Parts: sequence; C-alpha cells; structure tokens
Amino acid sequence: MLEKLAALKQSFDADLAEARSGQQLSLLRDRYLGRKGGRLTLLMKGLKSVAVADRKEVGRSLNQFKARIETAMETARQRIESESIRQESARVTLDLTLPGKRRALGHLHPLTRVRRDIEEIFYSIGYSVADGPEIETTYYNFEALNIPQDHPARDQGDTFYLSESLLLRTHTSPVQIRTMERMRPPLRIICPGTVYRRDTPDATHSPVFQQVEGLAVDEHLTFRDFKGTMEYFLKAFYSEGTRVRFRPSYFGFTEPSAEVDISCTFCSGDGCRVCKRTGWIEVLGAGMVDPEVFRHVGIDSERYTGFAFGVGIERFAMIKYGVDNIQHFYQNDLRFLRQF
Ligand code: DAH
Repeated sequence: MLEKLAALKQSFDADLAEARSGQQLSLLRDRYLGRKGGRLTLLMKGLKSVAVADRKEVGRSLNQFKARIETAMETARQRIESESIRQESARVTLDLTLPGKRRALGHLHPLTRVRRDIEEIFYSIGYSVADGPEIETTYYNFEALNIPQDHPARDQGDTFYLSESLLLRTHTSPVQIRTMERMRPPLRIICPGTVYRRDTPDATHSPVFQQVEGLAVDEHLTFRDFKGTMEYFLKAFYSEGTRVRFRPSYFGFTEPSAEVDISCTFCSGDGCRVCKRTGWIEVLGAGMVDPEVFRHVGIDSERYTGFAFGVGIERFAMIKYGVDNIQHFYQNDLRFLRQF
C-alpha cells in the first residue's frame, strides 16, 4: 500500500507540473480525488484490507497526501492566474506613467448664477418665487399696470405683438397682477423670467433678456420698508460697502416711483469711465404700488400698501463681473464662459 502511495505521489507531481490552465487543474483533481474513480480515493477504499497493525499509519500517510494535493493545487491555481495576468499585461502595452485624460467639468452660466444669487437673497427674507406666461395679453402687460393706451412702450416698434391683444411680455411686471389676482396679502414674491423687446442688438441691448420682478404687499408697508429692502438686497448682492441712492422717476404702476443707483463698483464712487464720472450706476426701477393697480385686482388700497421693483439680470451681471458687452452672455464663447 505504501509503495502504491509513493508511486501515486510521483505521478501526481509530474501531472501537476504539466497543468497549464484552471481547466486542466480541475481534471487533475478529478483524476486523484474524484469521488468514484479518483486514484487516491480508490487507495483509501483499500485501507480496509490493510493489516490492522499498519492501518493507522497508512491511513495517516494517505490523509497527509490528500492534504498535500489540496495545497499544491491551490498554489498551482494562483501561479496559473498570475501568469495569465502577466501575459495579458505584456500583450497590452500600457504606460502607467502617462498623465490621465481630464474631462472638462461644466459650470453654471453667469446669468444663471446671478439669477440664483438674487433668488437666494430674497428667499432669506421670506420671499417666494412666482411665475407667469411669456405670451401675455395687452391687459396684463399694460392696462392692469396702469400704462396708458398712448404710452410709447405700447408702440408696435417696441413690442413684439402676436395679435391685436397678444404679445411677448416686455417686462415681468404682469406677474404682479396675476399673483395678486390669485393670492391675498400679505404677499412677498419675486418673479424671474425672460422678457422681449424690439431692440436692435448692441453692447447694452438684446431683444431677449431676463428680469426679476419683486412685489411686497401688506398692511402698513411704507417707503421706509421699500428703501430698507432695496438697501439690504443691493448690499447683499454687490458688497456690504455699496451705497444706495433713490432718484424720483415715473412708472405707471408705482407712485411714487424711484430709480435706484448704487455707488460705482469700479471706482467706489470716485468717478470713472463706467459711471460717466458721476460715481453712481443706475441698477433698477421701483416704487410704491399705485392704488390704480390695486383697484384692477380688487385689493383695498386704503388698507394695503406695497412696493415693487424690477431688476435686469444681464445688467446686474455686467456690473458685478465687469462685462462691457451684453452680447457675450449669448454667444457661448468658452473663452468668455470659463472666466466665471
Ligand atoms: N417693469 C419695469 C421695466 O421693465 C421695471 C420696473 C420698474 C418694475 C418699477 C417694477 C417697478 O416693479 O416698480 O422697465
């Protein structure tokens, strides 16, 4: 029996040395350890016929051999595996020292950033966002806002009319009306959106641009609330050191109306080319809601007051980032966009 075992060991070592693949290894396992015809298995079955005195020792030798087969197979399996990896990587010539490929990451368009910055500032003081259609009726775009029939803004030459009574909204102010029709005060909303005017494109004009409208309506709102809100907003958007001034102006939907200026962000108010030596830059139009507007939406102007304002997003972006031509925002030239 021990002789047969010695012979088996030899042939196993020889067979193992030949094995080149995982498949050959499992054939090998079958040949020696297979449940039915495995050569070692057969030897083990013969153990019964070994003399009782020797059985223990022979049994141990058989078991040791079995364990050796297992470890030898495992080692061979690992050897075959790493060999095949080595061959594979020799086939694919790969220079691991080469730098990787960088993918360009996109980022927000400057106009999107400015719009979101403005939204964040107003969210932080309790405003929410309202929305309205870009195709408007003359009623919402003009009439309800107390813009008279003969006002130049209504001119065919300034407005894209789709029909007698439909147009592309020329400002976001009609959202004021739509919101007040739907909701009762107290109200604090902003409305960002696209607006359209028949302007010839140049450095400061575009026939399509964006505005943010703001509206607050409540009992006891005064011109001081209006001024405080504008100052808070403009300092938060531009910088804490920004100074704000209010000039009388005219809009049909506000009374009194104001044009709001900030100290020039380029020269801090000393006077430069951008602010035309005045030290001030006009940034928005605003005012106290005209009672005539409240009348159109059925809000009692004896009880409620309000203020409204209109911001040009492109204008804010140009001032904040020092962009001297509005057209840059629409041309999608990466050399421009990558700077933000
Ligand atoms: N709608 C005006 C425009 O497009 C901007 C504006 C001015 C909006 C005064 C307002 C306001 O809400 O009170 O020129």
